[in-house]
Amino acid sequence: MGPRRPSIAIERSESSSSLGLMTRLKIRSDSDLDDLMVIGIDFGTTYSGVAWADIADFERDDVNLINTWPGHGREEGKAPTELFQEHGHLMWGYAIPPDADPIRWFKLLLLREEDLASEFRESEFILRGRKLLKEINKSATEVVGDYLGALWKHVLETIYKARSKYVIDAMAFHVVITVPAIWKDYARQAMEEAASKAGILTPRAAGPTTLAFVPEPEAAALATLGEGKRQFKTGDVFMICDAGGGTVDLISYKVGDVDPIVLHEAVIGTGGLCGGIFIDEAFETMCKNRLGRKWNNLSQNGIRSIMKNEWEYGIKPQFKLDDTIRPYTVAIPAEAFEGSSLNDESTKPYIKSGRIHFAR
Ligand SMILES: Nc1ncnc2c1ncn2[C@@H]1O[C@H](COP(=O)(O)OP(=O)(O)OP(=O)(O)O)[C@@H](O)[C@H]1O
Ligand SMILES: [Mg+2]
Repeated sequence: MGPRRPSIAIERSESSSSLGLMTRLKIRSDSDLDDLMVIGIDFGTTYSGVAWADIADFERDDVNLINTWPGHGREEGKAPTELFQEHGHLMWGYAIPPDADPIRWFKLLLLREEDLASEFRESEFILRGRKLLKEINKSATEVVGDYLGALWKHVLETIYKARSKYVIDAMAFHVVITVPAIWKDYARQAMEEAASKAGILTPRAAGPTTLAFVPEPEAAALATLGEGKRQFKTGDVFMICDAGGGTVDLISYKVGDVDPIVLHEAVIGTGGLCGGIFIDEAFETMCKNRLGRKWNNLSQNGIRSIMKNEWEYGIKPQFKLDDTIRPYTVAIPAEAFEGSSLNDESTKPYIKSGRIHFAR
């Protein structure tokens, strides 16, 4: 027998104490665990990921991560949370053409206006998102449902390919979806409705599909503990910070016991709407302000090249706080400069050969 993964019990300091996933599964009296497939969906504001495992996988500590996505050649842990519809054809993730203006950040649109901090209500992201919803005449829940539906189809195809449809059809599904810790009940309910619209809960011959939500920082805590690299002792307190695209969630745990691990939430979790997309927005505004009217010459493709290639995959992951010397240069597509010079050193940040030279 190989080593068994310790069962982890997490107790929240709020009213309901909850048990760890494995424990939660073990108390499901109505199902035979050998015939159970657990599918975890991390539905994020900017990127979404999926993992799946049956009980044998769990015991071998071998959770399967989906890392191939339609429209993308390289392996990647997550796919963009983006949707684009054209002539009744729905595209998602990496399969969206580069010249399209997809719907994004729709996870945040599940929140009511009064639950968005005042500075974000007017955020370009939120306004653009709401405008797009109006244009396509859909609610945020419907759009989330469309996205989850496309994702779910890919999940099923992937699992069928790995295990054969025949085997999978005999297994009941337990689906777990992550939600930000700061979300109120109505937003969770909207997620449940979206999951249902997505077909995730469609009846299957093997039995009813069950759906559970796990707070994002709790999932992060379980994943970190599951790595088994860290040693804990009773009384240790640790804090998890899940810095995402939309929200930053914080949660703290005190180790109550180590064998099996029992965690008590130390301080009630909290978080804020201050994820990466708000930095993206500030960057886009800086570029827009610097280019002035030239910005309007940019096509959708051109804006995407700045925001994805230059920023998301270029500067953002490379940025260092202590790097005071080098400028961060952003290549602006030539179309922006139609009829004007590629150089402008009249004001900072300078534009040289069609590149904006930003200081740290
Ligand atoms: N190396 C990096 N340096 C800086 N930012 C990064 C780096 N890698 C990813 N990011 C940023 O992190 C954000 C994505 O994080 P993540 O995938 O955890 O968010 P999410 O799950 O989509 O959002 P949320 O959990 O808030 O709904 C993006 O804004 C991305 O640009
Ligand atoms: Mg996330």
